[in-house]
Parts: sequence; structure tokens; C-alpha cells
Amino acid sequence: MRRVFSGIQPTGNLHLGNYLGAIRNWVRMQDEAECLFCVVDLHAITVAQEPKGLRAGIREMTAALIAAGLDPDRCVLFNQSAVRVHAELAWVLMCTARMGWLNRMTQFKEKSGKDREGASVGLFTYPVLQAADILAYKATHVPVGEDQKQHLELARDIAAKFNNDFGVELFPLPEPVIEGPATRVMSLRDGSAKMSKSDPSDAARINLTDSADTIAQKIKRAKTDPEPLPSEAAGLAGRPEAANLVGLMAALSGQSVAQVLAERGGQGFGTFKPALAELMVATIAPITERFNALRHDATTLDAVLAAGAAKARAIAEPVLAEVHRAVGLAE
Ligand code: TYM
Repeated sequence: MRRVFSGIQPTGNLHLGNYLGAIRNWVRMQDEAECLFCVVDLHAITVAQEPKGLRAGIREMTAALIAAGLDPDRCVLFNQSAVRVHAELAWVLMCTARMGWLNRMTQFKEKSGKDREGASVGLFTYPVLQAADILAYKATHVPVGEDQKQHLELARDIAAKFNNDFGVELFPLPEPVIEGPATRVMSLRDGSAKMSKSDPSDAARINLTDSADTIAQKIKRAKTDPEPLPSEAAGLAGRPEAANLVGLMAALSGQSVAQVLAERGGQGFGTFKPALAELMVATIAPITERFNALRHDATTLDAVLAAGAAKARAIAEPVLAEVHRAVGLAE
């Protein structure tokens, strides 16, 4: 049986990278498998969060996910801290994971920056909590963007070591699902940096709350080079900004990169950019409209999260009981 799990942090706005890299695949998978999607608030507190802002962020992210196409009747949509199994299982798995494995995690190095001594212990053990998120549901498939690949390899290593240490076949090894032409959407200002919620420049990303005018402006000002588009993908080598915009066009139009270039090779950015912005607006405007209608409806959003948490607990609690039995802990 296929069971899908994935998560997103409730910090900042949902952006086009999240949408094309992950959420769009989540929406599609709802009809193909049993799906659980989680607003990972425990992950968010690995760096300082203002409590009121975090609380509001959880609801806003829930509204954004529903606006983007998740249907709480067809998937389990919930927030992580409402299901205590995540934190409890993470502790057990921290005793399975090895220091050397975590020391190799590149995202910790990036996020802790120069102040490694001042980073929270939670930021260091973050990928173990992520493994617990997945393994608590014995999930088989995990749709994510490219940046989560290393964390998913770690989740597989933890699952395999746990099974091996205790002589059980308790956890399936989760498969990463990294699909589509936009698994790593780059910043609009710098083709070597990932589009991210935490980029201080708002011009670097397209938020799913941006108006049509803002989107058109951001695309117009997106960094490019002076050359026209090549007619084959090989011609994008060494042109990261051009490659990013072509990848976005492909993802938004449902074409391959090769098809986009076959059609638009030779075009300058003066022609290409308005066409890209138009397509982007056509995708984002209906999401923004649904988001604005829902974002302040705390009653509905809290009810969705509560119902989702109840369904999630019903799956995860028996798994934790199995883990306790395997390890020799009292149930
Ligand atoms: P987060 O909140 O940073 O991002 C959510 C999802 O969006 C994808 N993504 C991107 N895809 C393409 N281009 C980009 N520029 C881009 N930026 C973000 C991410 O790959 C992710 O799929 N640690 C995770 C959340 C998490 C999780 C999990 C995921 C916690 N537990 C268990 C899967 C399974 C994170 O911080 O994602």
C-alpha cells in the first residue's frame, strides 16, 4: 500500500518554489494514495519564533495549502504539535541516529552559519524529527523539492538501522518523490541561490499572495543575461538565471524544457518575460483568491486541523506502541 507523507514549515508565505517543487505534487497525489500533509510547527521553533506570529502562521499555512488545492476530505491535513507521537518517536530515533550522520547534514551548516555554537540543539537534531514525521505513519512515499533529498536519505538510514538493531521489519524505507521541471526553483535575483521564504529580498521570490502587478514587476526585474534563449537545453549551461525562468515556464505550461526551447528559442527576454508573467498570474490568481477568502476564518481552519490531528493520531499511536514493544519500553 502506498502511503504519502510530507510537511511544510508555517513560517512566511507559500512561494512559487514550494508550490511547483512540492505542493502541486501533493495535490495530484491526493487521488492516487492515502495522503498525510503536515504543517510542521515543531520544526519552526528550531529557530526563534514570536509566539503570536507562529500561531497565526500555522493557520495561514493551512489556508494556503487548502487554497492551493489540498482537500481535507481527501487527505489528512494537520499540524505537527497536535500529534505528540512526532516528538516522542523523535526521541527514540535520536538514540538510533549517529552523530556522524547528523554532522554531514548540509542544511544545518547553512542554517547555523558562522554561529554554530549558538545554534539550538533542535536545529542540529531537526532531520531526526523529520524522520519521525515520516516513520510515525510508515509512509512509503515523500514528495519534496530537491533541497530535502539529504534529509530523506537520512530518514531511510534511520529506518534501516532501527529495523536492523531490533530485528524487526517495522519501518518501510520511504522513497523520495522529487518530480517535475521545477524541483529546485532559484531566486529571481541570484541564479545560484534557492528561492526561499527567508530571503531578505521579497523581489527574489514570487509569493502565492502577490498581486498580478507585483508578479509582472518581479518577473520584469528578474536577473537575466543579454543573450536570447537557446533552442536546445545544452545552450542553458552556464546561464543559471535563464535556466531558472525556462524551468518555470515549463512547469507552469506543463511542457518539458526541450519543448519550451523548441518553441521559444531565439526569443529575447523582452518577449519571454511577459509571457511567463502572464502564465504565472493565471496559475496564482485563483489560489490567492481562495486564500484571501479563507485566511481569517479561524473557526474553519482550527476545525480542519483538529479533525486532521484525530485521523493522524489514529495511525501514529499504534506505530509508536509497536516501536515501544520492539525497543523493550513499557507501553
Ligand atoms: P520547507 O518548509 O522549507 O519547504 C516545503 C517544501 O517546499 C520545497 N521547496 C522547494 N522546492 C523547489 N524549489 C524551491 N526553491 C523550494 N523551496 C522549498 C521543499 O523541498 C519542501 O518539499 N524540512 C522540511 C519540512 C518537513 C518535511 C518533513 C518534509 C518536515 N518534516 C517530513 C517531508 C517529510 C522543510 O523545511 O520544508
